[in-house]
Amino acid sequence: STSATLAADVVRWQRAQGRHGLPWQGTRNPYRVWLSEIMLQQTQVSTVLDYYPRFLARFPDVQSLAAASQDEVLGLWAGLGYYSRARHLHRCAQAVVADHGGVFPATAAQLQTLPGIGRSTAAAIAAFCHGERAAILDGNVKRVLGRALAFGEDLAVPRHERALWSLAQDLLPPAEDMPAYTQGLMDLGATVCVRRSPRCGLCPLAARCVALAQGQPEAYPVIQRK
Ligand code: ADE
Repeated sequence: STSATLAADVVRWQRAQGRHGLPWQGTRNPYRVWLSEIMLQQTQVSTVLDYYPRFLARFPDVQSLAAASQDEVLGLWAGLGYYSRARHLHRCAQAVVADHGGVFPATAAQLQTLPGIGRSTAAAIAAFCHGERAAILDGNVKRVLGRALAFGEDLAVPRHERALWSLAQDLLPPAEDMPAYTQGLMDLGATVCVRRSPRCGLCPLAARCVALAQGQPEAYPVIQRK
């Protein structure tokens, strides 16, 4: 079916063309994966490469981060911006230690209850660490799937956004392919299916992309901010 091959095409592309060898990709350690996902949320990979190793050297595990002062955490975060991320990060570490025995919960549903972990971040951590079949739908992925499916409804409307979440869930591959699929969607959105002048000639989904077939990839996704 179309959905099974869409995921397979993303997985194949990720394995052949996606970004590899980044320091957070060689691990299934939830603390390391979580830290990378929070840092990558509004920050470029090249910048995170600068901060991630230093942060891990000072705080090698969730216990050391939880025990630190907020000032020291903010100090190591200085330059990454969006400081509410660092405050949530610190509170999340303290919650994992206080409420979960120092072990990150294994499911996306449980991860999502922690400070600073939204639905997409929870799903990404669970997919990368455990192969959980949980969909992500951050801004980049809304663009990739919105275009591939020519999803024309306004995603600022909660029921339409829920509909796209549901379609994203229907597209998921088997558990063993979830890490590559999740990373592949993120990398496609970041490097190929970009907002302006997408590089459709390089896209593994071009042959099936409905927005491209319509000649207007930039028309999707529709997000009408009021
Ligand atoms: N943005 C959020 N998570 C990411 C990841 N794992 N790789 C690249 N960009 C990201």
